[in-house]
Amino acid sequence: MADHCESPSLVISNSKTAIIGAGFSGIAAAKQLCHHYPIVFEASDCIGGVWKSCAYNSTKLQSTRKNYEFAEFPWPNRNDPSSPSKLEVLDYLESYAKHFDVLKFINFNSKVVELRFARPLVGNAGYCWPWDQPSQGQPVWEIAVQTKDSDNLKCYAFEFVVVFIGQYGDIPKIPKFPSNKGPEIFKGKILHTIDYCKLNKEAASQLLEGNKVVVVGYKKSAIDLAVECAQANQGAEGQPCTMVVRTPHWIAPNHWFFGLLFSFFYTSRSSELLHERPNQTIFRTLLCFLLSPLRRGVSKLMESFLLWKLPLKKYGLKPDHPFEEDIASCQMATVPENFFAEADKGNIVFKRASEWWFWEEGIEFDDNTKTTADVVILGTGYNGMKKLKTILPEPFRSMIDYPYGIMSLYRGTIHPLIPNMSFVGYVESVSNVGASELRSKWVARLMDEKFKLLSTEIMAEQTLREMELMRRRTKFFKRPCIATFSINQADEMCKEMGCQL
Ligand SMILES: Cc1cc2nc3c(=O)[nH]c(=O)nc-3n(C[C@H](O)[C@H](O)[C@H](O)COP(=O)(O)OP(=O)(O)OC[C@H]3O[C@@H](n4cnc5c(N)ncnc54)[C@H](O)[C@@H]3O)c2cc1C
Ligand SMILES: NC(=O)c1ccc[n+]([C@@H]2O[C@H](COP(=O)([O-])OP(=O)(O)OC[C@H]3O[C@@H](n4cnc5c(N)ncnc54)[C@H](OP(=O)(O)O)[C@@H]3O)[C@@H](O)[C@H]2O)c1
Repeated sequence: MADHCESPSLVISNSKTAIIGAGFSGIAAAKQLCHHYPIVFEASDCIGGVWKSCAYNSTKLQSTRKNYEFAEFPWPNRNDPSSPSKLEVLDYLESYAKHFDVLKFINFNSKVVELRFARPLVGNAGYCWPWDQPSQGQPVWEIAVQTKDSDNLKCYAFEFVVVFIGQYGDIPKIPKFPSNKGPEIFKGKILHTIDYCKLNKEAASQLLEGNKVVVVGYKKSAIDLAVECAQANQGAEGQPCTMVVRTPHWIAPNHWFFGLLFSFFYTSRSSELLHERPNQTIFRTLLCFLLSPLRRGVSKLMESFLLWKLPLKKYGLKPDHPFEEDIASCQMATVPENFFAEADKGNIVFKRASEWWFWEEGIEFDDNTKTTADVVILGTGYNGMKKLKTILPEPFRSMIDYPYGIMSLYRGTIHPLIPNMSFVGYVESVSNVGASELRSKWVARLMDEKFKLLSTEIMAEQTLREMELMRRRTKFFKRPCIATFSINQADEMCKEMGCQL
């Protein structure tokens, strides 16, 4: 690392704390850690993260305002049931950042390209046993930063690093194809939704209008894009947009009664009684077992409502799995009001396919059917793990997603074996901003030595049990999701910190 750094190679900053990323999570952390005068490194030239880099002109908040707010800074119109636009969401974040005066900590256009552990790797397993060893004011991590104005890297040293680089954005997930069946043989245009987000309104509608567009995916990015595509193709000259659906998941309408049912059965303290929690007592395990018919009944009730409200059967989009599996994996997307209206007009068509590949004129499916296309847009999601692994050094890089291939974090925040580093924004629940704010507060109290961590072994054991529970609850175990026990976990974290919710 030092070879590429500007001279003097190491900037020993006045701050002992670095924050990487200035999305919702990084800004929440800057507020909670402001008494440490952190240095925030942000790769782009603004705050907002995914709300700047991977949202469309039509993107709206899919959570309610109350479920997407900082406890210490409520939305001005928090009872308004309408969905705020991306500009309103960005305004809200900016107001928060200005209100708590955290913008002064941010170094924009400063991309962290490498982290290096500044201590000798010692201990039984060949690396330092973390968290037990006080840093005694000495640097633990070195950070190499690429800025816009120099070809050389700037290197900094810190005692504590908080990573908030986000699970989405930056690195798209691109499907793999058999040889001679990939993008290279397709005559049309191929892009990922992250590229589409960079287009202005005019360029976006030029791309879609009058063209046969295939959108791959059936989650929020793909669903919203299909609606934008349908709207650009109204009238006789319009072309239908084809959505390639690999797994139909339960999708939610923006409907007041659904919202009411959902909050009552899934986001209330009493609703968590029905669901297993990590590291629960035998008594609670028994209670959950006895209540499991009720839990399944609630799931069925939600399914019946959705099948009544949305034409899922008509379009072959009825999921094969229970509703509760989508909740336990944080997989549910909200559909814009006009999504099925556009399908009814024939402007959106659905193609179920487990496998697909390119041919010269379009896409071919595993049932030997083909469709022609001028443009193929991949709404296939993001590779957040790759983004993180790019900057983490070994042996930590290999530990971070061991053993399940997804982030395994104690309290959704620290890895028991990665010292003086925390990660926020990697667990999902119904209330992502609240979760990031609480975790940032927890990290701040930990750094202020307001409470002590459990031993490394106990934290590792509890983390594994939590991951095991998430895995048991859903076959779509792709990201850490605490939706069914987030209130309980927040209570536990508050107790640990000595505060109340
Ligand atoms: C389009 C979209 C809409 C969403 N809508 C909702 C919603 O309605 N409700 C909900 O609950 N959740 C939603 N989410 C989930 C969303 O990810 C979180 O709600 C939240 O905004 C994530 O914030 P974050 O700060 O953790 O990550 P991000 O917003 O991804 O911010 C990470 C920041 O880190 C910076 N960064 C990355 N790498 C580096 C580096 N190496 N060096 C320096 N800086 C770096 C990035 O530039 C970025 O600014 C949405 C996600 C997307 C993609
Ligand atoms: N507020 C908003 O309006 C908004 C807008 C956009 C995104 N978001 C959020 O941003 C996050 C990312 O969402 P996302 O929709 O971009 O990604 P995502 O949730 O990861 O969904 C990816 C989609 O692509 C499909 N897919 C992946 N590879 C495929 C392949 N090879 N063939 C066919 N289909 C494939 C997946 O199918 P499988 O299910 O089969 O894997 C899934 O339907 C989510 O948290 C989402 O809620 C929010």
